[in-house]
Amino acid sequence: MIRLHVNIDHIATIRNQRGTRYPEPVVAAGLCELAGAHGITIHLREDRRHITDRDVDLLRQTVQTTLNLEMAATSEMLAIAARVKPDMVTLVPEKREEKTTEGGLAIGTPQVRRSLKAAVKKLHGAGIPVSLFIDPELADVRAAETIEADQVELHTGDYCNALPGPPRDRELARLLAAAEEADACGLILAAGHGLDYTNVQGMLHLPGLKELNIGHAIISRAVLTGLDEAVREMLGLLWDFEEE
Ligand code: PXP
Repeated sequence: MIRLHVNIDHIATIRNQRGTRYPEPVVAAGLCELAGAHGITIHLREDRRHITDRDVDLLRQTVQTTLNLEMAATSEMLAIAARVKPDMVTLVPEKREEKTTEGGLAIGTPQVRRSLKAAVKKLHGAGIPVSLFIDPELADVRAAETIEADQVELHTGDYCNALPGPPRDRELARLLAAAEEADACGLILAAGHGLDYTNVQGMLHLPGLKELNIGHAIISRAVLTGLDEAVREMLGLLWDFEEE
């Protein structure tokens, strides 16, 4: 069975845009869990553009499934993880100017490998399993093993951006080869980024896939599937008022 972790960052994006109390990420997480999601994923960014420290603390208290904290391997984030103790941490690269995480960790360079290894050791010391968000490259999967990560999350962005047909098939083949390598290395396999209702089916071909992290498409879908009810509720308030 593939576990679905819902990334709720964009609930916080909408809230922060207006500085309101709603929509509340804690409520969103609860609804995802009630619908059957196996986990809640949040990315605490250095600039706190969506999820905030307060959200992390509250979600740690309320999430009943798996709380997956995505973060950069900085000393600030490592200290937060050690204090909050999420159920797992996914280490991701982070650039301030990017709209969303643009690629996997630059795990090929010895310097990055060294600092990731130290981060994994610290997180393990705090009892937290670690996933590494990497590009679907055999060398990167092997590097994740040497870093002693528990899991790899294969970046599916190139697959999602590729046109259907041969370009997408080529990207799927890359993911397949990386998935097989992860299995050979004894790493738990996850995947995510850019997956939506039209391209997620390809993930079913990945051998040994245990977890998907999906955010933007689910939150975007919820906005549209919930719009009819939201308009009717507002009309209901207006009409009730008129009748008084
Ligand atoms: N996995 C990782 C490591 C991510 O950084 C993100 C985006 O925060 C996702 C999965 C989810 O991507 P999307 O919002 O495109 O579904």
